[in-house]
Amino acid sequence: MTRQSSVPQADAILLAAGGAQAELYASLLRARFGAQRVRVWPHAGEPLSDIGYACLWNAPHGLPARCPHLKAIFNLGAGADHLLADPELPGVPIVRAVHRDLSMRVTEYVALHVLMFHRRQRRYDEQQRAAVWQAHAQPGAGEVAVGIMGLGHIGQHAAGVLRALGFRVAGWSRTPKRVPGIDVHHGAGGLDAFLAHTEILVCLLPATPQTEGLLNLALLRKLRRDGAAGGACLINAGRGRVQVDADIIAALDEGALAGAALDVFPVEPLPADSPLWRHPRVTVTPHNAGDIAPEILIEEVARQIARCERGLPLEYTIDRARGY
Ligand code: GLV
Repeated sequence: MTRQSSVPQADAILLAAGGAQAELYASLLRARFGAQRVRVWPHAGEPLSDIGYACLWNAPHGLPARCPHLKAIFNLGAGADHLLADPELPGVPIVRAVHRDLSMRVTEYVALHVLMFHRRQRRYDEQQRAAVWQAHAQPGAGEVAVGIMGLGHIGQHAAGVLRALGFRVAGWSRTPKRVPGIDVHHGAGGLDAFLAHTEILVCLLPATPQTEGLLNLALLRKLRRDGAAGGACLINAGRGRVQVDADIIAALDEGALAGAALDVFPVEPLPADSPLWRHPRVTVTPHNAGDIAPEILIEEVARQIARCERGLPLEYTIDRARGY
């Protein structure tokens, strides 16, 4: 059948994903939509006028602008800061990854490190290396205050699990929110009270102009150090640009922080000469706290494309003015 219209039917799918999962995403998309319909960058060829949907993760800036009939972009992750920094980003809806699997994985990371701090595991690791059998006072979780910055889908899920473990959980968000069982503070005006109460600070904030550099020395000094956790601790599984690495080191060295578990960094991969790698009270992981199962992510893309094709609104779209 020859198409009469000069505008091709734009229903092909472009995949441009950096990282270890790129091949798997490609084969899952081909299996779901048929190989004919899937074009994989950098072998996608030109022109890209038949592309209706783009699945992007750390894709080159300017690429979506080369797809004149694009209907939607799927960000293959929760944080869309890399995508939103594209100066030529077309005005189509952008869908971010929101799924229970993703929330559960980040929650695993958060619960792991909250418990590591709470149960003084670093200290016991050191003792084991020296064959020292010595128990330290161990408060119950109900005596320890955990504060979560960022109360979206992931933050609320993590809050619920930490509460189920018995911790005293508070939250801070940009705008007022009601989360059952959680004491929620909001906005610049609510930040100091939230920090003064928090011993273990969990950051799940997106990178936006408002959050850039927020986790700095001045903020870390406001955390509660004399509580049952035995010192203030920081967990960041949000975005690296929210933290100031040198200030985290300074806070550890002056005692404002007792420990830090960091999955994200302003520069990734974390440069080999960063002192964070070797600091005895820092745990570094390679930005994998929220690695969602590729099968689930692509199923979710397919579900949303089906919505789009039925004329239904896309879910979990990004508000560009807000930045997430
Ligand atoms: C991971 O960092 C994500 O944004 O999903």
